[in-house]
Amino acid sequence: MWGASTSAYQIEGAWNQDGKGESIWDRFTHQPYRVQHGQTGDVACDHYRRMPQDVAMMRELGLQAYHFSIAWTRVLPEGRGQVNQKGLDFYERLVDRLLEAGIVPNVTLNHWDYPQSLMDLGGWVNRDSAAWFADYAGAVFARLGDRVPFWVTHNEPWVCAFLGYGYGVHAPGLHDFSKAYQAAHHLLLAHGQAVQVYRQGGYPGQIGLVFDPNHYLPATPSEADQAACRRVRQETRELFLDPIFFKRYPAALMDWIGPHAPQVQAGDFEVIAQPIDFLGINYYRTEAVAFDLEAGLLRARTTPLSAPGWGTTAMGWGIYPAGLTAALLEIHEKYAAPAMYVTENGAALEGVPDANGFVADWERIAYLREHLRALHAAIRQGADVRGYYVWSWMDNFEWARGYGPRFGLVRVDFETLARTPKQSAYWYRDVIARNGLGE
Ligand code: FCB
Repeated sequence: MWGASTSAYQIEGAWNQDGKGESIWDRFTHQPYRVQHGQTGDVACDHYRRMPQDVAMMRELGLQAYHFSIAWTRVLPEGRGQVNQKGLDFYERLVDRLLEAGIVPNVTLNHWDYPQSLMDLGGWVNRDSAAWFADYAGAVFARLGDRVPFWVTHNEPWVCAFLGYGYGVHAPGLHDFSKAYQAAHHLLLAHGQAVQVYRQGGYPGQIGLVFDPNHYLPATPSEADQAACRRVRQETRELFLDPIFFKRYPAALMDWIGPHAPQVQAGDFEVIAQPIDFLGINYYRTEAVAFDLEAGLLRARTTPLSAPGWGTTAMGWGIYPAGLTAALLEIHEKYAAPAMYVTENGAALEGVPDANGFVADWERIAYLREHLRALHAAIRQGADVRGYYVWSWMDNFEWARGYGPRFGLVRVDFETLARTPKQSAYWYRDVIARNGLGE
C-alpha cells in the first residue's frame, strides 16, 4: 500500500472555526519564543477549506492511501463533554471523498494537538487523560468506524511525552522528566483503553499505533557508549513496545531513572497490552550515541549520522537509509510484531521553485528511492511490511521549526496557498503505478 501522511495541526488551519476548541498547539504557538519566527498553524495550508481540491490532487497523482489525523478539539472543543457535530462532519466529508477517489483512509486520533481545557487539568500527566481519550476515540469510531479501515491511536508517543513534557520544545513546553515518564504511561493506558473501545464496538477495520524508532549506534565500542546507546533505545523504543508486547517496562531503564519512573497501578499492563493489528513505524534518523555526563537524565549525547555520500537535510538530520532496514528487522525479531507499515519517511529539503512554482526536487527522489531499497531489503529478510507512506503529502507547519522545512511531495506557496506537485510527486506516482522501483 503506497500512501502519504499529514497531520491536522500541520495542515488544517481554521484553528477557531466551526466550533473548534483551543488545543495546546494553538496556545503554544500564540506565545512568544516558542516557534521559529513566531509562526503559527492558524492558517497552515488552509486544508480545512481546500480539502476537496487536495483530495482531487491526491487522486490525480495516484495515491492509494492517505494517513491524516483528527483534531480532538474539533470533535470535542473542551476535550470532553459536548460533541461538536460540525467537526465530525468535516472528517466525514474527508473520509467519504477519499473513498470516492479510491484512496484508503488511515486515521490517527492523537497527533499531539491535545485539548487546552484538559491541559489545564494536567494534560497527559493526569491519569484521567486515558478515559478522556477513550471517550473521544469512541465518539469518532461511532461516526466513522464503519468506513475507515485503519486507525492509529497515537503518533509517536515518545515525542508527545518527551518533547512536550521533558525537553519543552513542543507544546505544552514543560521541562520535567517525571512528568514526561508519567505522560508516557498515560499515553499507553489511553492507547489500551481506546483499543478496548474499538473492539467492543465490533468495527470492521484494524487498529494499531505509530512510533518512531530512530536507529541508534554506539559512538565507539566502549562499554560506556554501548550502555548509553542501550538507555536511549530503552527510552525511545522499549518504554513503549515492552508494555504493549510483554506487559512490563524495561527494568534497567526504570532503575536508571529512579524517582522519575512513572506510577503504575495494578492492572495497567493488562489494559495496555491489548492485541493490536499493526505497528506503524516512522523512520527518519540514525544517530551515534556517546556517554556524556552533562547530557541529561540518560547521560547520553546523540549525533546525527549520514551514510557515506549522503549529506544532511535542511533540518540538520542525517541521511542513513540502512537504519530503516535495521530498525524494521530489530522490531520484527524482538516483538514478532503483527503487520508493520512505514507510516512516515521523508526529508526536509530546500528547493527553489521556477516561475510556475514547480520544484525539481531530485534530492528527495534520491532519498525516497534509497529508503525504498532499504525497506525492500527488510522485507526480503523477513519483516512483514505492508505499506509505505511518504512524509509528507504537502509542505506544512513543521512544529517548532515553523514553515522553514519543506517535506512535501507537493509544494505549498505560503503566501498564496497555491499547491504545485514537485518532481517527486510525479516520480512517486510512477512508483505506485509500477508497485515498485522497477529495478
Ligand atoms: C515526525 C512527525 C511529523 C513530522 C515529521 C517531520 O516526527 O510525526 O508530524 O513533523 O516528524
